[in-house]
Parts: sequence; C-alpha cells; structure tokens
Amino acid sequence: MKVAVYGLQWGDEGKGKVVSYLSKDFDWIVRYSGGPNAGHTIVKEGIKLVHHHLPCIDHGGSNRGYLGPGMVVDLSTLIEELESLERIFPGISKRFYIDKYVSLILPWHKLEESALEKAENIGTTKRGIGPTYKDRTARFSITLYDIENDTAFEKLKAMKAIKSPLVNSFLDEAALLKDLETLYNRLLELGVKVTDFVSIKEDLEKSSILFEGSQGFLLDINCGTYPYVTSAQVASAGISSFFSWVKIDRYIGVAKAYTTRVGEGPFPTEIKGEIAQKLRERGGEYGATTGRPRRVGWLDLPALKYSVIFAPATEIVLTKADVLSGFEKIKVAISYNVKGKRVDTPRGFGDFFEAEPVYTDLAGWTDLNDPLFEEFVSLMEEFTGVKVSMVSTGPETSQMLIKEV
Ligand code: GDP
Ligand code: IMO
Ligand code: MG
Repeated sequence: MKVAVYGLQWGDEGKGKVVSYLSKDFDWIVRYSGGPNAGHTIVKEGIKLVHHHLPCIDHGGSNRGYLGPGMVVDLSTLIEELESLERIFPGISKRFYIDKYVSLILPWHKLEESALEKAENIGTTKRGIGPTYKDRTARFSITLYDIENDTAFEKLKAMKAIKSPLVNSFLDEAALLKDLETLYNRLLELGVKVTDFVSIKEDLEKSSILFEGSQGFLLDINCGTYPYVTSAQVASAGISSFFSWVKIDRYIGVAKAYTTRVGEGPFPTEIKGEIAQKLRERGGEYGATTGRPRRVGWLDLPALKYSVIFAPATEIVLTKADVLSGFEKIKVAISYNVKGKRVDTPRGFGDFFEAEPVYTDLAGWTDLNDPLFEEFVSLMEEFTGVKVSMVSTGPETSQMLIKEV
C-alpha cells in the first residue's frame, strides 16, 4: 500500500498526528519536500515530540524513515533533532535514511532570507527555506553528494564570489567545509544511512510507503496564495518529482474543523477578538516551529474545495473538531463574494486576495457524538465531494474515529 498524507489548508492541520496514527502499518515513512520549516507534533502516551526534518516513524516500532531528495536540510538542526530523539529512543537514528541529493541549508541562506523579508514581508519561518530552494533552482546548491565527492570546496568558493558582499563578511569556505564534514560524520556516527533515490528504489518498491507532506496546499509554491507561500511543491506534485514511479493508492488530505495560518497573506475567514482568542487558546494554536501565535478563522469550504481538487485528496481526515465542542454557534464559509460575483471554488490564487466570505451559521455541538457534529461533517462532504474517512478526536495518536465510507 502506498499512501500520501498532506495538508489541505495553510499548514498545521495535524499531519504529524495523522501520520503517527497510521505509521505503524507502513514500512517506510517518507518526507518528500520542505525542511525544518515544518513542525509536526506527535503526542503518544503523554510524550510530546515535534519533528521538523524527521519523518514521523513509529518510534517504538521498527519501520524506517527516509528524508527524500526533494527536501532542504539544515545539518546542524537535523543532528540536534536526532540527538534529542536519541535521549528518549536510544538507537533510533539508525532507522533514518537521508538522500545524498538533498540541498543543504547554509548559513548565508538565513542571512539572505532576513534581507529578503525586509522587502517581501512573507513572515517566513526564518529557516532559510526559500533561498535554499532558490539556489537549487539556480543549479547552485550543495548536497551531501558534494561532501562525499570533494566537489563542495570548489562550489563554496564559487558561491563566495557570487554571494558577496552578503557572504564575504563571514564566509571562510575552508572553515565552512570543515563544519559540514564534521556534521556529515556525526550523521554517520549516529547511524543514519546516506543513500540516494535510485539505490533505495528497489526496497521502496516492495514496501508499504506513507508519504508525509509538510506545509499545506494553500502554501504550495505553484498553487498556493502566491507570493505568500513556501518555496516547495507540497502535495502530490512534490511526491511525483522523485517518486513518479509510485502508484499511490490513497491521497489523504488533512483538514482542521476551522482554519489557521502563520505568517502573512490572504485569509478570507480570519477572525479577531474574543472568539479568535478562545479558539487559539483551546486549540493551542501557537507555531510548533516558531512559537508564533497562529492567525485563526472559520472553516473555509471554497478554499478546501480548491485544495481537494488540485492537491488532490480522495479522502479527508478531519482534525481538531473537539476544539469547537461547546461553541454555541459556528460559522462556515460556503462561498466567496469576489468583486460582486459569487464564487464557489476560487478560480486560482488571485481570488483569495479579493474574497469576502459568505457564511452559513451552524449550531455548535456539545461533543463529537452530537448529531449536530454529523451535520457539520455532511456539509463538508457535500460541499467538497470528498468523504471524511477519519475524525481525529484529540492530540493523542490513538484518538481517532474511523468512519464508514
Ligand atoms: P502539523 O504541522 O500538520 O503536523 O500540525 P502541528 O503539529 O503543527 O499542529 C497541530 C496541533 O494540534 C498539535 O499541537 C497537535 O498535537 C494538535 N492536534 C492534532 N490533532 C488534534 C485533534 O484532533 N484535536 C486536538 N485538540 N488537537 C490536535
Ligand atoms: P507544517 O508542516 C504552517 C509558512 C510560513 C510563511 C510561509 C513561508 O508544520 O504544516 P517558509 O519558512 O516556508 O519560507 O515560510 O509558509 N509555513 C508554515 N505554516 N505550517 C508549516 O509547516 C509551515 N511551513 C511554512 O509561516 O507564511
Ligand atoms: Mg506544523
């Protein structure tokens, strides 16, 4: 079985939770895009873990995790992540594989990002993601392959010339190469296997694979609310860049019962004030990577419809509906008014900037057994044309309700 799990909103939908629930049934958990901008939370038997680079493998089990070649990786924070996991699960690093063709996030990428942010004001996670992908697209990035093959030094020297004056002030290419080699050796010491997408194909082919998406489709570089997006393809297009040979059996889209967004950019159903604060506090809506308070708002069905079509999703896992339990009234956007015209599905990302949401008011549910919650689920299903196959009922990995579809 080959399954894809990815977010359908602006990230933080609970992908970590959903992957950790499904994880034990898969041989491989594969991260295919993004990098440490992701913050995927797992709560298992009271222990809370946040993964940034590492796929959410079944910690107590024996399956393996693969950091695929479409990722951008910061070696020093990856090692910190592994070392902190090692303190709880000694030896776990040996179950991770990293592709030698990942692009490395280097010190100047963060500097470039700070400079860009002054002009663009995207509200990035400041992890150097955009500049690293930019260098990759410009055919100018450094990979683990370069460290292994002594091609890193020449490239670093060439970069120093190009990236001045930003970089010249601090970059000593020999010192940086030494740092990278030390980090690379530490990875090997921990037992992480360095592989590549061709060598690993045979093993993947005969195994069950769960592809773990990062970010959310509305942050996709091509289809998201550009320019307020991340720099990678976050859904099935991101998988197919290196894994086009995989036939995916299920495309599982993860969506919250409301909406959140971190950083700048359009957010038609955003709310502020007392209800927003209640939602933020009850939902613990603070960034898992940066700690920033997340912007919050009502469920946006037009946006969700856009995502299920283009991500795409063949089923939805609904998360965080428990956070709305006890709310007397709930709003759900069922269409947009764009310059006086009714729009049911955004016609590209431009509509998100102009959209005034048209809401329907629903009576809130007391708990997830309440028939009023069923009505909410039916509305989602009818509107999107996609069934809700599972309902997450809390942050714990085991808190999941399987629906008959
Ligand atoms: P991700 O980036 O999509 O993996 O999501 P995050 O981990 O950044 O944010 C989701 C937050 O909601 C985390 O704190 C999870 O522990 C929590 N969470 C996930 N699913 C549920 C749920 O169904 N109910 C509640 N109350 N919390 C949830
Ligand atoms: P997970 O995987 C929520 C947002 C940032 C910013 C924009 C660009 O946990 O859902 P970047 O650092 O990627 O260049 O920032 O994208 N962003 C996320 N928001 N969850 C994430 O990941 C995000 N990764 C990036 O806040 O608006
Ligand atoms: Mg997150």
